[in-house]
Amino acid sequence: MRRPLIAGNWKMNGTAAEAEALLTAVASAEAGRAELVVCPPFTSIGQAAHHLSGTCVQWGAQNVYPAPSGAYTGEISPRMLKVLGCRWCICGHSERRQLFGETDDFVSRKVRALLDEDITPILCVGETAEERRDGRTAEVVQREVEAGLGAADAAEAAQMVIAYEPVWAIGAGQAATAAEAEEVAAWIRECVFRRFGAAASEGVRILYGGSVGSGNIASFLAEPDIDGALIGGASLRAEEFISIYNTANA
Ligand code: PGA
Repeated sequence: MRRPLIAGNWKMNGTAAEAEALLTAVASAEAGRAELVVCPPFTSIGQAAHHLSGTCVQWGAQNVYPAPSGAYTGEISPRMLKVLGCRWCICGHSERRQLFGETDDFVSRKVRALLDEDITPILCVGETAEERRDGRTAEVVQREVEAGLGAADAAEAAQMVIAYEPVWAIGAGQAATAAEAEEVAAWIRECVFRRFGAAASEGVRILYGGSVGSGNIASFLAEPDIDGALIGGASLRAEEFISIYNTANA
């Protein structure tokens, strides 16, 4: 039985004071059957480690550079995150692919570097509106899944998280339908099965992301291949975020 996972991606939001308020509120979530993770900006990671210590809420990073240390101005290594207590890291988010030119190969190197530090990658995949219109959703998602997991083995794949985030649904206020999300989540699981076998495909957790809120989370969680959600906008509102988490606990 896969444990439900609700992860919040704050993106580039939250000054220190705003993060303080949000972390304090989220820290009040009550432990349940689902896991709860917040991914604040790097500037608030120290606050997250402090406020969430001893609570049921875990924290992760939104990005990482795939090298142990060195001349990479402005970057953060997996080891730097690990020593602070980081357990999760988002990789391959469409905003990074589109705005920062991240390639499948680069995403795969991040996944490998995180696994080497026992940080669980949350690998994001998903098609654009145009790719969906052209009937290329399955092909695009397969390529991103295979590339992202390209440097992992079956045991590692089983522990990973893959977030299906159709680019057209992110921040759009209009989510995919649960049926649309399930169709692709099932395909992702099939891709993992073909590459790594049954144990990996049954273990890997697949999230849906893209305009998830308290009003639609239950419909996604009711689908057999969707194990939780990656949440952007709604993760910035503590009450809404905890309400989503509580639905996953129910
Ligand atoms: P959204 O973002 O919930 O604001 O649509 C999701 C994401 O980008 O992970």
